Amino acid sequence: MTELAPLSITEIDLGTLAERSGAIAVFATEDGKLDLNARKVNSLSKKAVARVVDSAAFEKAKTGEAVTVSYPAGLAATKVIVVKMPRRPSVEVARKAGAAIAKARGEDDVLVLGGSMARMADVAFGVALRGYSFTPHKTGAQDALGKIEFMVSAPDEVQAAADVLMAVAEGIVFTRDLTNEPANHLTTTEFANRLKEMENIGLTVEVLDEDKLEDLGMGSLLCVGLGSASPSKVVVMQWNGGGDEAPVALVGKGVVFDTGGISLKPAGGMEDMTMDMGGAGVVSGVMRTLALRKARANVVGLVGLVENMPSDRATRPGDVVTSMKGDTIEVINTDAEGRLVLADVLWYAQERFKPSAVVDLATLTGAVIIALGHENAGVFSNDDALSKAFLKAAETEGEGAWRLPLGAAYDAKLKSRIADMKNVGGGRDAGSITAAQFLQRFIKEGTPWMHLDIAGVASVKEDTVLAPKGATGWGVAALNRLISDAYEAE
Ligand code: BES
Ligand code: MN
Ligand code: ZN
Repeated sequence: MTELAPLSITEIDLGTLAERSGAIAVFATEDGKLDLNARKVNSLSKKAVARVVDSAAFEKAKTGEAVTVSYPAGLAATKVIVVKMPRRPSVEVARKAGAAIAKARGEDDVLVLGGSMARMADVAFGVALRGYSFTPHKTGAQDALGKIEFMVSAPDEVQAAADVLMAVAEGIVFTRDLTNEPANHLTTTEFANRLKEMENIGLTVEVLDEDKLEDLGMGSLLCVGLGSASPSKVVVMQWNGGGDEAPVALVGKGVVFDTGGISLKPAGGMEDMTMDMGGAGVVSGVMRTLALRKARANVVGLVGLVENMPSDRATRPGDVVTSMKGDTIEVINTDAEGRLVLADVLWYAQERFKPSAVVDLATLTGAVIIALGHENAGVFSNDDALSKAFLKAAETEGEGAWRLPLGAAYDAKLKSRIADMKNVGGGRDAGSITAAQFLQRFIKEGTPWMHLDIAGVASVKEDTVLAPKGATGWGVAALNRLISDAYEAE
């Protein structure tokens, strides 16, 4: 697993500054004011920092961006990174500043002279996350990441905030690694093994195998994996940090590869379907974060792990399967497989855990990318309070999310001639909504539920503020915040 760069937070000690190797980062406000530490670096470097601040490049830089001087005179450092940031930045700006430092430092160690600037833990979060890269399949990649050191005036305070944020960052990195991992490496079995390993951080992890899933009657989930050599699995991860209250259930789509099955996808871009387990990846990352920060909440994470392959044993269009709930489903399109997986895992989660709320995450539809692009996940919910609380948490974390409607007229599109429902809406209209309607048929009356369609945000083709291209880990931070805001004891 990719490790976060080692982070240390210490008191200000400028005694050996001139001899420090690696990069040094300092802060300047938008009107060019340097704090005490930046002034010290300025005088050692024969006023290099002042020249940066007076430059056109600094003038043009946005808040949270940086301008770098390489091999400054008077310092042993490889570079001085001058970050444009107010003394009291927002969370978003502080994280963006951290990302700017991560990009500028490259592979060097970095010393950040934070002094008494606010939100240094968020800056550290930004440095850690933007410094991520997925390298297990690059031969010769360097595995030791450069150290990150912060010198601040209140190290204990910054350390306490950083402890929580680094638990979030670890969850995000875990999600990114799973989501980036190619499908020949991340099989259903390997995925389950990686989750089982989280028992050593205090989670209870059960792996349900195909025999068990058959006993439970999960004919909908099981029909998806019939064409694959990899066995279908459901993994249940429990974190019981709360009292005796009912848990929140997080449910994830874990299609380790989606060829479309017999309704085969076209070749162009099919390699992207290695990330079709992104929902399960986020659920796993959130569970990791909750365990690492010892959340005072009860949360259960359930993921349905399958591979959607064509073969002589694969499910055919027109087949009828019976879900664990008992409802029958006519499989019109074997490429609408995510909902078939989620239907059974959602039902199982409610039957077994009687959760106080259910949140599912899935790279469910291409249609949500047409609607919202890569900026926002689609949010669908039967509960205004739950979805509002989530949208607020997502906004705070800088993770885009936008609510879309549900309604009886959309549900009616799922009518089947020969079974209780079909697995597609017929035609492409409102494809993300009809998919959500299908899921809602497996939510019990009175259970607050939210579905997050993350097809557009789980993995991206261009760098984002906090992630290089590839898997983003979208949703780990927002769900962690939702849990701490709405479900956690003080
Ligand atoms: N995994 C795909 C959705 C997807 C598409 C995720 C693009 C990420 C990027 C899903 O299983 C799928 O194939 N959905 C179909 C549904 C259709 C057959 C009703 C789709 O969106 O085309
Ligand atoms: Mn599909
Ligand atoms: Zn899929």
